Amino acid sequence: AQRSSLVIAIDGPAGAGKSTVAKLLASRLGYLYLDTGALYRALAWKTKRASVASDDEAAVERLLATTLLEVRHQDGERMRVSVDGQDITDDLRAPDTSALASVISSLPAVREWLLPVQRKIAERGAVVAEGRDVGTRVFPAADVKFFLEATPEVRAQRRFRELAASGGPVSLEDTARDLVARDTRDRTRALAPLVPAPDALTIDTSNLDIEQVLQRMLAAVSAKL
Ligand code: DC
Repeated sequence: AQRSSLVIAIDGPAGAGKSTVAKLLASRLGYLYLDTGALYRALAWKTKRASVASDDEAAVERLLATTLLEVRHQDGERMRVSVDGQDITDDLRAPDTSALASVISSLPAVREWLLPVQRKIAERGAVVAEGRDVGTRVFPAADVKFFLEATPEVRAQRRFRELAASGGPVSLEDTARDLVARDTRDRTRALAPLVPAPDALTIDTSNLDIEQVLQRMLAAVSAKL
């Protein structure tokens, strides 16, 4: 990939703590935060809105041909997403959107379509990019790469607390089941599955608090840059 600005890539499964630390890292370093999952979620939102079947790749591809996806930064760590001119950022975290995002993200047409979108955003300046294939596929030449992990139990607890805090009527059981299903799909899909890049630093966050994770990342960043 041709690019001139800095990229810090953070990959890992849901609930490993990526979003939280990616935003903090972006804010401490003065970089832009790029939440690539939000882009998959936005396309999932549109697919559902248009009543297109998520496994009908040809129909999804036709939909993409008329889709305008825009990303705006309010400040470095706050990213807003619009689809066809409508800001849908606040609708993107719903559990059904998570599941659908994971399903459509296995479609090659969707992944291909989003590649230039993501790379264009990184041309705006230094970015902390978070997702599943950021260090392996989107930015294989990223300056620093992290892979965050945590046990399925810890990840389900975190996701459950997050959903409960935003008022969702959720149970820990359902949250854990959805998370495992989504993970399995993300890790086993044929194209750009969730795997650590060979040159990524893996951090198991199960027994670390946010500040501890952040300190390790900042140490790795200053050692590299
Ligand atoms: O990070 P997230 O939970 O917002 O991502 C939602 C889904 O989008 C995830 O289950 C798989 C897909 N995704 C992806 O395939 N590649 C990425 N870089 C980011 C997300």
